[in-house]
Amino acid sequence: MQFTINHLLPIRIWENLGDVLLLGEGNLSFANSLLRQSAFEITNLIATTFDGKRRLTEEARKNADKVNKMGGLVLYDVDATQLKNTFTRSYQFDTIIFQFPNVGSRQAKYGRNPNHIMIRKFLQSAKESLKLNGSVLITAVDSPHYDGVFQFEEAAEYAGYQEPESFPFDPEMFPDYNHVNTNDQVSALDDHEAFLTWEFQPQP
Ligand SMILES: C[S@@+](CC[C@H](N)C(=O)[O-])C[C@H]1O[C@@H](n2cnc3c(N)ncnc32)[C@H](O)[C@@H]1O
Repeated sequence: MQFTINHLLPIRIWENLGDVLLLGEGNLSFANSLLRQSAFEITNLIATTFDGKRRLTEEARKNADKVNKMGGLVLYDVDATQLKNTFTRSYQFDTIIFQFPNVGSRQAKYGRNPNHIMIRKFLQSAKESLKLNGSVLITAVDSPHYDGVFQFEEAAEYAGYQEPESFPFDPEMFPDYNHVNTNDQVSALDDHEAFLTWEFQPQP
């Protein structure tokens, strides 16, 4: 499967986000950053963490308070691969976002990288919660290593999506975003220079 890197339209995917669901939100700084800027045209935002509330860092707790004050909702213990456990079919979103997904394990699953398997399951699950013409956005490091880890084009085909497009991700568009790694609090944004946001839309 071929894929396209669209350098001419780096922010089209960040316009008119509408009803937004965020998965795997770590310290909730991305949710906070989105809500601070009206340019994203967000109508509703639900930010979720994989961890339970009690495992949140102090920074995450502060960001959760800010998200709530700005009208967002924070939910905990949400598995991106099992959205039906949290949302009934009446919850539908325009944009479902997962920034820098990482399962924090290298143990192969079904003979494949566990992150590729997680993305496949996430895309399958997200399809049930997308409005008509909605999109899934996933941001990851742009490198041959991460291309091999995620294999986004193959995951899209497996999960019943059109060929995904990728757009350069510029962290400067999100000033309050303080990305954290899965197993520590160090930012991957400091360790890498190039990032891509992949846009997925279900097959019609
Ligand atoms: C590299 S961290 C990125 C955190 C945050 N999105 C950010 O950009 O700062 C990866 C995140 O994926 C979450 N994660 C791993 N497996 C998940 C799953 N099945 N569902 C939801 N989140 C998951 C981890 O808990 C962790 O917060």
